[in-house]
Amino acid sequence: MSLPKVSVIGAGQVGAMVAEHIAIRELADIYLFDVVDGVAKGKSLDMMEAMPHWGSDSFMEGYTVGPNGENYENLKNSEVVVITAGLARKPGMSRDDLLYKNVDIIKSAAENIKKYSPDATILVVTNPMDIMTYATYRIISPKKHKIMGMGGTLDSGRFRTFVAKELGVSVEDVVAFVIGGHGDDMVPFVRYCTVGGIPITELLPKEKIDAIVTRTRGGGGEIVSYLKTGSAYYAPGVSVTVMVESILKDKKRVVTSPVLLDGELGKYYGADGLFVGVPIKIGKSGVEQIYKMSFNEDERKLWDVTVGHVKESVDKVNAYLHL
Ligand code: APR
Repeated sequence: MSLPKVSVIGAGQVGAMVAEHIAIRELADIYLFDVVDGVAKGKSLDMMEAMPHWGSDSFMEGYTVGPNGENYENLKNSEVVVITAGLARKPGMSRDDLLYKNVDIIKSAAENIKKYSPDATILVVTNPMDIMTYATYRIISPKKHKIMGMGGTLDSGRFRTFVAKELGVSVEDVVAFVIGGHGDDMVPFVRYCTVGGIPITELLPKEKIDAIVTRTRGGGGEIVSYLKTGSAYYAPGVSVTVMVESILKDKKRVVTSPVLLDGELGKYYGADGLFVGVPIKIGKSGVEQIYKMSFNEDERKLWDVTVGHVKESVDKVNAYLHL
């Protein structure tokens, strides 16, 4: 059976979840890469042995990558590469320490993608996601339409979930999305949130909507507070899979995710040269369209705050990478 090739760098919680979902849906053959010896190999073998029960012929293989790029040649001919490799924040580690450590990890992944699979579409999951997507782009540039982050898709799913639960309706009938950075200042876009076409502003009082917005913004942290070690991976895994499926099948899904805002759009959004989450269309060619949203005064303020935070971190990364 001939299936497209998807590679996943980082065979941790999110990476394994992505691999499993793609395999269950028989979307691709999946190749996992991880720095911890045997992890990618063991997990891919275990998952592949589950496939007879799902009726899927997706092939899976795992490789341990070394400090000098050992085994990365197996990335070749990937249609999509998902980067989930990264470290979680440990006690005593500042946010900036984490930022630089993950930039180093992204750098080695991106350089090897560029070397072995230069035509792949790249989906970045590693946090801080907007910044890691930017770093990937700066290392691989100029393939801007082939590089995107995943955050907005995940955050929009959380927003839809909370709206549906509050109103007691099916999640299927809630259209809602989140733009901006994938952090505490992300912008759940209330004015365009509808339930069966009805704006939520006509269905819920302001206090309830505000509470949903706050919970959406803190959605990742809420899960970390329960898990204590580790962060969300079920919803992130599915969010990545939905995007990979749209690319492989050329479905032209419209999702929100961090993409490069430059040129006229960059100026309009006040985010020239940054990766920030906006609605996009994704298909075979990667990012096929970036939509221009109109903001009222309050929305523009929220947008400017989130863009400002992305820019602060990007400036740090530029200094760190001597860009
Ligand atoms: N090359 C390849 N893999 C690496 C490297 C590297 N240089 N450095 C770390 N890894 C691997 C780890 O060994 C681990 O298996 O990345 C994996 C990360 O997995 P987890 O720690 O389980 O983290 P996960 O929950 O999957 O989250 C991954 O996504 O949501 C974000 O904030 C999250 O940045 C994190 C990423």
